[in-house]
Amino acid sequence: MMAKLLNRLIYKDYCHDLIDCLITALEVRDVYTAGHSSRVSDMSFDLAQVLGLRGKNLMDVHMAAHVHDIGKIGISEAILNKPEQLLPHEWKQIRLHSEIGYNILSKSNNINNIAIIVLYHHERWNGQGYPRGVKGDSIPLGSRIIAVADSIDAMMSNRPYRRPLTWEQCRREVLLNRGLQFDPSVVEAAEELWTKWMGAVCYQEQPKAGSGIEA
Ligand SMILES: [Fe+2]
Ligand SMILES: [Fe+2]
Repeated sequence: MMAKLLNRLIYKDYCHDLIDCLITALEVRDVYTAGHSSRVSDMSFDLAQVLGLRGKNLMDVHMAAHVHDIGKIGISEAILNKPEQLLPHEWKQIRLHSEIGYNILSKSNNINNIAIIVLYHHERWNGQGYPRGVKGDSIPLGSRIIAVADSIDAMMSNRPYRRPLTWEQCRREVLLNRGLQFDPSVVEAAEELWTKWMGAVCYQEQPKAGSGIEA
């Protein structure tokens, strides 16, 4: 009985680490997002815990965060690595990644919850996101959690066309978007976590100025 439980725990770690490695390999294609999925999964795990998720629901959110951008495998490197701002038709291509990710992950019935969370991770609380434009509670909670963590990581990361925000600027942007882009309850959970994240989540550069919000 104990041996079986131990094996299951080892297997869970094994799967988690294997997925982390695969996504790291995928991020090699995209020079601007190294480590992105891993940081988003850590922040999403924290948010989900504060929001009371436990057990399988917590693991689903954590794993979905690891693979949330897996659909970028279907987007050309020229677009992913374009040093200038993207043109409208290039954004259209990038926006396909949620649906592509869903199609990849829904090959297995065992991870259907994860596939659904990934499908909706760019939806917005006010219904102005993509790919479906659903709003509020109709967006799965896991997707609403990842949306906040994903945006925080994007704002805190360097891009060739804009500098990263400071933690305080980032916090203000998140608060401004409460009830618009983000679920207010997830923003409240983030409020409890800023101090921890400021000490624990590492970014290469922390210049003073910057602007913009994306994911
Ligand atoms: Fe994404
Ligand atoms: Fe992302």
